[in-house]
Amino acid sequence: GVSTVIAVDGPAAAGKTSTCLALAEIFGLRYLESGRTYRIIAFEALRREIPVDNAREVTGLCDDLIRESRSAGLLTSERYAPDKLRATPVNVAVSAVAKIADVRQRVTSLIRLWAKSQAQCVIEGRDIGTTIFPTAPVKFYLTATPEVRAMRRVRQERAGSYENVLEDVIRRDEADMSRAVSPLAAAEDAIRIDTSGLTLDQVVSRMSSACLNRG
Ligand code: C5P
Repeated sequence: GVSTVIAVDGPAAAGKTSTCLALAEIFGLRYLESGRTYRIIAFEALRREIPVDNAREVTGLCDDLIRESRSAGLLTSERYAPDKLRATPVNVAVSAVAKIADVRQRVTSLIRLWAKSQAQCVIEGRDIGTTIFPTAPVKFYLTATPEVRAMRRVRQERAGSYENVLEDVIRRDEADMSRAVSPLAAAEDAIRIDTSGLTLDQVVSRMSSACLNRG
């Protein structure tokens, strides 16, 4: 069928997941957290002691995981507890995995395949509006200062000390923005929202009015 995608991109901890879940609830959309797939690949690489900067080996692992989980199943797999995928070693490894062109190409195909089977969906990530669905009718780019983002994450998840979380956020942003393939960037036609001074409800209400206007 013809599917409509709402694309939500932005740096780490900018509020993508909480706002997407709220939008999905309001409009009855399926929701996909694309970063989770990169985290699963990084997690499995660490578990199997595959060096995360070895493009050939990590791509081989990616193919194995796709085969084992019957293609799109990897995107929605519930085998992995969220706290495992959000642990520090995975945070450190994930950007290395996500910069491998052959891995991105495979994850991109899986996401497109998944979206085809949805009537309407909201997908969050780094390259959804720029690379994966460049013609999506509604795109958002959420940002906030690194300090605000780190503070929110510390409060929400007890994710470690503020200093460590801030360091992780800054390091991943730099890695994600500077990679050669599909670097993190706002699509030209994305609605940019700086969420630094806004509550979750305020962000969600801006996003939902934009969906009603454009979608
Ligand atoms: O969204 P989340 O913080 O869970 O993403 C984890 C990592 O996965 C990001 O830092 C980025 O390196 C990678 N990612 C990506 N493209 C996406 C989603 C996530 O490169 N569409």
